[in-house]
Amino acid sequence: MIQLIRGFKDILPDETETWRYIENMAIALFQSFGFKEIRLPIVEKAELFQRSIGEHTDIVEKEMYTFVGSKEQLITLRPEATASVVRSYIQQKLYAQEPIQKLYTIGPMFRRERPQKGRYRQFYQINAEVFGIASPYIDAQLIFMLWTFFERLGISGLSVQLNSLGCPACRPAFKEALSSHLASKTGKLCADCIRRQDKNPMRVLDCKVPSCQEVIGDAPSMKDYLCDECARHFDAVQSALGLQGIPFVLNSRLVRGLDYYSRTAFEIQTNALGAQNAIAGGGRYDMLVKMLGGPAQPAIGFAIGLDRLVSLVMQGKYEKELTPDIFIAALGEETREKTFEWSCALSVAGIRTEIDFSGKSLKALMKRANRINAANVLIVGSQEIEAGAVVLRNMATKEQVTIPIDGMVNHIKKHLAS
Ligand code: HAM
Repeated sequence: MIQLIRGFKDILPDETETWRYIENMAIALFQSFGFKEIRLPIVEKAELFQRSIGEHTDIVEKEMYTFVGSKEQLITLRPEATASVVRSYIQQKLYAQEPIQKLYTIGPMFRRERPQKGRYRQFYQINAEVFGIASPYIDAQLIFMLWTFFERLGISGLSVQLNSLGCPACRPAFKEALSSHLASKTGKLCADCIRRQDKNPMRVLDCKVPSCQEVIGDAPSMKDYLCDECARHFDAVQSALGLQGIPFVLNSRLVRGLDYYSRTAFEIQTNALGAQNAIAGGGRYDMLVKMLGGPAQPAIGFAIGLDRLVSLVMQGKYEKELTPDIFIAALGEETREKTFEWSCALSVAGIRTEIDFSGKSLKALMKRANRINAANVLIVGSQEIEAGAVVLRNMATKEQVTIPIDGMVNHIKKHLAS
C-alpha cells in the first residue's frame, strides 16, 4: 500500500469539524476588526522568501521545498504567508487604492523540518496582516484580537511573550555587542551558530542547543540598545496592552525565526503541548514592503498555527457541533420512498439529517444513531405512515413525541427550536 509521506498528515472528518469551527470563529472575529480575506498561490519564486525571511535563517537555509520550474526558475512551496501577502500588496497596488489594508488568509505552509508531535512538513496557518499603520495601538489591538480569539475558544494556560527587536537605527549596535559576546564563547556554540555568529548573530538567540542556551544566558539584551523612538513605541504597546488587561511577559530572547521583523515581536505560548509550545507568532515588519520594491509602508501581522490549535481545542471541552439533529430509522422497504423524500427536505431546511437505507432492524439502527451521536431519531415504519404520524425520540432524555406527517419539516423545526 502506498503510504503518506513522513511529516504530512490526513485530516479526517472527526477533526475537520473542529478545524472549520476554529476557522469560522477566526473569520467572524477578524471581520469585526475590519479584516478582509486574501487568497494567494501556494508557490512563489524562491527569491521572494530568500529576500524577506532572510538567507541565514533555518527556513531558507534548510527547510524550503524548492524545485526548478520553467525557464530554470526556482519555485518554492511557501514556508509562510507574510512574504506572499506583501508581494501581492505591492504587485496589485493595493496601497494605491488605500494604504491601510487589513488582510487575513488561511491555508497550508510547507517547511522541511524534522517531524515531531506538533511539527509537520505541511501545516496550516491563519494569518492576519495590517499595512499602513505605524501607531503602537495597532500592535496592541492585534494582540488583543488574538487573545480574544483564544479566550473565545476557551483555551487557558497561555502566555503572551513580548519583545522589541529595534530598528535599523539601533539594531546594528546591538548586533555588534552580541557578535563580540559570541566571539568570546565560540567554543561552546553549535556548528550552525558558529557559522551564523557574524552574519546573523540574532539567530543564535533562537538556538535550542543547551550549550548555546548557556552562552545566550548572559548575552546583551536588545532592550538596552533601543533608540528613543523604538523605546517609546515599545512602552506605548505595553501600556495599551495593560489598558485591555492583556497579561504579557517581556522576553528579551524572543527574536522569532524570520529576519524581516523590527520593533514589536510576540508569540503566544501554551503550557499544554510540550516542546512545540508556540501557537501563534508575529510582529512588525516596517521595512519589508519597501525592501521588496513597494512604497515605504509600515506593517504588522501574525500567524496562528492551526494544527497545534486544533489539538489544544480537541484536548479541551469543545463539543462537536456537527452531529446529526435527526437520524431517520426507516423500517422496511415500504418506507424507503417517503423517508428518502423527508431526509432531503429536512436537510434542505437546514436540519442536519442522516438516514440509513440498509433495511437493518430497529435495534441495529438505534445502535448506529448512538454511535454517530444523533440528537434525535425519527422512527418510521409502515404503520406510522398509515397512521399519518411518526415518532421522534430524543436520544439524551429518551422522551418521545408524535409528529404529524403533514407539514413534518415545520413541526420538526419548531420542536428542535423549543
Ligand atoms: P512562525 O512563527 O514561523 O511565523 O509561524 C507561526 C506559527 O505557525 C507558529 O507559532 C506555529 O504555531 C505554526 N508553525 C510553524 N511551523 C510549524 C510546523 N512545522 N508545524 C506546525 N505548526 C507550525 C510566521 O510564519 C510568520 N509569517 C508570522 C507573521 C505573520 N509575522 C507577521 N505576520
